[in-house]
Amino acid sequence: MTHIKSPNSGMDLFFAKMDTQGLKLTYADLRFHTDLSNVMPSDVNLRTRFSRRIELLIPLASAAMDTVTESSMAIALASNGGIGVIHKNMTPEAQAAKVQRVKLHLNGLIPHPTTANASETLAHILSRREAEQLSFHSFPVLKEGKLVGLLTQNDFDFQPDRETLVEEAMTPLANLITAPKGTSIDEAYVITRREKRKILPLVDDDGGIAGLYVFADLQRGKSNESMHNIDSRGHLRVAAAVGVGEGALVRAVLLAEKGCDAFVIDTAHGDSANVHNTIRQLKELYSDIDIVAGNVSRATAAKRLAEAGADAVIVGQGGGSICTTRVVTGIGCPQASAVYDCVKTLRGTDIPVIADGGIVNPGDIVIALGLGAESVILGRLLAGAQEAPGDEVTVAGARMKEYRGMASEAALRENAGSRERYRQTKGSGRRLVAEGVEALIPHTGTRRRRWKNFSEEWRTD
Ligand code: XMP
Repeated sequence: MTHIKSPNSGMDLFFAKMDTQGLKLTYADLRFHTDLSNVMPSDVNLRTRFSRRIELLIPLASAAMDTVTESSMAIALASNGGIGVIHKNMTPEAQAAKVQRVKLHLNGLIPHPTTANASETLAHILSRREAEQLSFHSFPVLKEGKLVGLLTQNDFDFQPDRETLVEEAMTPLANLITAPKGTSIDEAYVITRREKRKILPLVDDDGGIAGLYVFADLQRGKSNESMHNIDSRGHLRVAAAVGVGEGALVRAVLLAEKGCDAFVIDTAHGDSANVHNTIRQLKELYSDIDIVAGNVSRATAAKRLAEAGADAVIVGQGGGSICTTRVVTGIGCPQASAVYDCVKTLRGTDIPVIADGGIVNPGDIVIALGLGAESVILGRLLAGAQEAPGDEVTVAGARMKEYRGMASEAALRENAGSRERYRQTKGSGRRLVAEGVEALIPHTGTRRRRWKNFSEEWRTD
C-alpha cells in the first residue's frame, strides 16, 4: 500500500515515479496522508458535477445496469443529490417511459393543472378526485374559461356540506396572489415566501389559467437544506444510456422528448470512431443535453473523447465487481491509475472525469475523488437496495438480490443492449463471450430502513 498526498504536485511526482517503474495502481494500493485540518465534517460541501452542465449535490451516480438503475433507483438517487443512469436493456420506448417517471416524480411548474368548475359541487370534485386517483386538494376554479378562485384543502375542511357549490366554498380571485404566465421557478419561490402562500396560480393575458406552482415543490428544489437534484423546471435530474450510431439516435429522440438531462454513450470500449461520431452527431442535434461518453482507461482515449465533444468522460475498463473483462481479454488498467491519467490529461478543460467500477468501500470513493474524478458510478454498492430492479431471492433464510454484469452470459443472451455494449452478435454460428458474471448480494433494504437500523444501533440513550 502506498500513501500519497492530495491535491498537489506531489501526486504528479508520485504517479510519474510509478510510471518509470511500470506500475499501475488500484484503489486498494493507495491511501491518502492525514494532515493538519481545521475542517469539520459538517462543514464539507459535496457539491460537484456529473458533466459540464449537470450539477450534483453528492458525487454519486448509479450504473446503467439492468440490476441497478431503472426509475425507482434514479428517483432515490436524485432525491438524495445524485443522478441515476437508466440502462438500455429495453426498448427505446420503455426506457423513455422510465425517464418520464423520474421527471414526473416532482413538480416545478405544473403547466396544465387539474381545474374545478365554479358551478360544480364539492361532492362532485371529491368523486372526480377518487375516480382519477388524484392525491391533491388544490384546484384553480374556472368560470367561462377564466380563473375566478382557488379551492384548497381548507375549503373542504371548513365546509362540511358537500352539496355546496365550488364558487361558494372557494377563495375568490380577489383574495388570491397570482403571477403572470412565464413566471420562473426562482421568481415563484420569492413570491410564495414573501406572500406566505402555498399555491401560486399563473394567469395569462385573457385571465385563463397558465400554470400553477406549489410551495412545497419549490422548497424541495430551492431551500439550502434540500438534497433534491433538480433541473431548472423543478424536476429530478436523470441520465440514460444510449449506444452508438443509428440506435443511439433513435433512443435520443424519445429520451429528449421526456426531458432526459444527459445521454450516456455507454460502451465497453469508448475509444472508437463509432463513439466519436455518435458524440458529434448527438452534440449537433441536442445542444441542451449533455453527452457523457465512455468507457476508457487511458489518457489518449480520454483526450479523443474530449476532442469529439464529450461533456464528461467515464473512466473504468474491467474494474467492476462483476467484470471479468481483464481476465477474459487481458485488457484493462488498474482503476486508480486510469482515473489519475485521464484526470491529468483533461486538466485545463472543463470536462469532468467520472470514475466507474471497482468501488468496494466508501474509502474508494474518497480516493477516486482525491485523484480528481468529480463523481463516481456505483453498481455493486447500490444493487442490494430495494430500489434496484434486480430480482429478490431468499437463500438459507437470508434476503438476497441478483446483481449481474451487463456482459454476463445471461445478460448477453437476453438483451441486444448488452450485446451492443460489448460489440457482440448473436446467431449465425457465432458464440457469445461473457465478460461478466452473475452474483447474489445481500438485500440492503431501503434508505429509510437502513437509516432507522443505523440510528437505533447507535442510539446511546
Ligand atoms: P461496480 O464495481 O460498481 O462496477 O459493481 C459497475 C460497473 O461495471 C461495468 N460493468 C461491466 N464490466 N463486464 C465488465 O467488464 C460486465 O459484464 C459489466 N457489467 C457492468 C460498468 O461500467 C458498471 O458501471
